[in-house]
Amino acid sequence: MAHYGRQTMHKNITFDEAAVAAKYIEDYFQYPMPKTAVILGSGLGQFINKVKILKTIAYKDIPHFPQSHVEGHKGNLTIVEIAPNKHALIMEGRFHYYEGYTPQQVVFPIVVFHLLGIQNLIVSNAAGGINQNFKQSDLMLINDHINFTGHNPLIGNNDSTIGQRFLDQTEPYNQDLLDIAKSVAERLNISYQEGVYIGVSGPTYETKAEIKAFGTMGADAVGMSTIFEVIVANYLGIRVLGISNITNMATGIAKEKHQHVNIVNSANQVSDIFATWVREIILCI
Ligand code: HPA
Repeated sequence: MAHYGRQTMHKNITFDEAAVAAKYIEDYFQYPMPKTAVILGSGLGQFINKVKILKTIAYKDIPHFPQSHVEGHKGNLTIVEIAPNKHALIMEGRFHYYEGYTPQQVVFPIVVFHLLGIQNLIVSNAAGGINQNFKQSDLMLINDHINFTGHNPLIGNNDSTIGQRFLDQTEPYNQDLLDIAKSVAERLNISYQEGVYIGVSGPTYETKAEIKAFGTMGADAVGMSTIFEVIVANYLGIRVLGISNITNMATGIAKEKHQHVNIVNSANQVSDIFATWVREIILCI
């Protein structure tokens, strides 16, 4: 494990705190750390039932780890076996900016993953469909994003021995992983969409005018997570694959008003397909 005992990265992320958390996780799990981590978004928790669980730890038991309070989100980190000798770390539940966490707290687990030696991050989320060709329960490969949160987790002092001050973002979603995800989908006959995710702070759903504007800007789906995690994963040299679960069509395109409970229920429908897809992707990376 590299980098234990680093100094401050940014005002509110300390490598020292992340190192304590990483050491705790490694000691508790007692398995060699895998190369891949998965963040399960709203309603995608079924993934965990499609793999062999080796060991689980609650976020609240990990030193310095924030905790998730959102309905439909658990707060567990689990090491699973996808196939013999193929393990992965799974985050059930994540930290949202709208919960009041700072952007640096939102990305704390990503720093911990880096210290544990994770090289691939599969991020998933629930999102509203803006692209008129999408429909509820589609899965969308994220090929780019628009950070419309108004914030960035890398604001603050930069330690240039860890990452670049002015990070290039030409390819935040790794092309090799996108290619693997597409070829796996073809092989398993999984249909998917592909597009641009626009990240907003929430917690309000968007207005009709906002969705119209986002569509004009080139966004295909909108959500309240993911952006900060992807930025920091890129900063730390972790390859990212992103998958959005289109739980609803966005405001003004949807016929009905949004209700969080409907969105979580809808997310559950595609959970099985998502699990099959992601499991197979992990076997290929
Ligand atoms: N907007 C923002 N976030 C979301 C949505 C939406 O319509 N659906 C699921 N997450």
